[in-house]
Amino acid sequence: MSATIDDQKRASGEAAAALVETGMVVGLGTGSTAAWFVKAVAARGLDIVGVPTSVATAELAASLGIRLAELGQVKSIDLTVDGADEIGPALSLIKGGGAALLREKLVWEASKRCVVIADAAKRVKLLGQFPLPIEVVAFGHETTALRICDALAECDLGVAPRLRLKDGAPVKTDGGNLIYDAACGRIEEPALLAAALKSVTGVVDHGLFLDLADLALVGTPDGVVTIEP
Ligand code: 5RP
Repeated sequence: MSATIDDQKRASGEAAAALVETGMVVGLGTGSTAAWFVKAVAARGLDIVGVPTSVATAELAASLGIRLAELGQVKSIDLTVDGADEIGPALSLIKGGGAALLREKLVWEASKRCVVIADAAKRVKLLGQFPLPIEVVAFGHETTALRICDALAECDLGVAPRLRLKDGAPVKTDGGNLIYDAACGRIEEPALLAAALKSVTGVVDHGLFLDLADLALVGTPDGVVTIEP
């Protein structure tokens, strides 16, 4: 029987758990694939400290007995393992489908090594089919959205970002911010777009993770494939 998407996520999470060693400080990602990683690490019973990238991951890890620390309490992070919404050329990524992109990026950037885990469907030739999450402060967010439109237009992307809703209400991140999603379609120049979005006052961060991943472990129907940038 061929591996389901969830089987692939689980296999990639378990492969990443094998990289964890006793004594490490480990960044714990967010999402269904990262949850498989957290469960597999806990099952190994190693003495590690986990730095969670969301309240949901903190709750899961704590329930499984993983010792936790806040980002600011550790000197550095040895290894971070996290999922992605798209994996493009040179391990460029779109993240933030779970609205945790800001804490994820803070933890990734503090890490010596970052490993992305995913199912095979996340691999793309060009980023952009998955709507790009953009985290904005709530104050004046409608005005910020107009500035985001301008930034997208500068990059030849004529799309309007949409406020992310759940059950009719705006989704709030763990930090109390809002998420806009931009259905770019094709992101030909991710670095240009990343810089344009970061220049908008009110944008806290965006889901483009460029030059951050050191390795990808992708679950496929034929097993876990290793990809380097
Ligand atoms: C959360 C993320 C997740 O890693 C991403 O959405 C992938 O999720 P999943 O593993 O459930 O497919 O970036 O903000």
